[in-house]
Amino acid sequence: SESVEQMIDRLCAKIPDYPEPGVLFRDLTPLFADGPGFKRTVEALADAFDGQFDCVAGVEARGFILAGAIANVAGCGVLPVRKEGKLPRETFKQSYQLEYGSATLEVHTDDLPRGSRVLVVDDLLATGGTLEATGHLLHRAGLHIAGFGLVMELTDLRGRAKLGGHRVRALYRV
Ligand code: PRP
Ligand code: HPA
Repeated sequence: SESVEQMIDRLCAKIPDYPEPGVLFRDLTPLFADGPGFKRTVEALADAFDGQFDCVAGVEARGFILAGAIANVAGCGVLPVRKEGKLPRETFKQSYQLEYGSATLEVHTDDLPRGSRVLVVDDLLATGGTLEATGHLLHRAGLHIAGFGLVMELTDLRGRAKLGGHRVRALYRV
């Protein structure tokens, strides 16, 4: 029967020249839209960290889709890491570089008890700027990073090198 890697390969859409010429954009929305594909993906990410976390942080926007489902499988809660200006209470803020310009992520300072073990999830690791910034935010909130869980890793971009000594698990590396 089909492995989770085979499901990801089959259900990842590849869009040439998006968002600009020369880029092959990998879109995982068909995987998320497929019941068995999404279920296997969520279970594989939960299994990769085998109960070694107290909460799942999802990075806006596509990480949110995964975080709620993984947390539900594991019986824990979720922590939203949001784009600037969306969280209503006191936050930590961290800016990071995008291919063009920069962006800022935020997390509430006190959503979780200090020392909580947090699994950070997102759909895809590219340059690593997004997850590096997320790691800084969690550190500032006194949280322990249980690891980073990704559906896909674009290995040529070397994003993993930005994630220090933390555990990184990608279900599909390309
Ligand atoms: C994409 C993707 C990751 C990030 C990876 O999100 O979902 O979060 O880029 O890139 P990096 O490793 O180079 O930082 P995007 O910034 O497009 O935001 P969106 O999900 O809100 O569209
Ligand atoms: N797909 C989705 N998000 C991305 C990509 C990609 O190919 N590259 C950088 N962020």
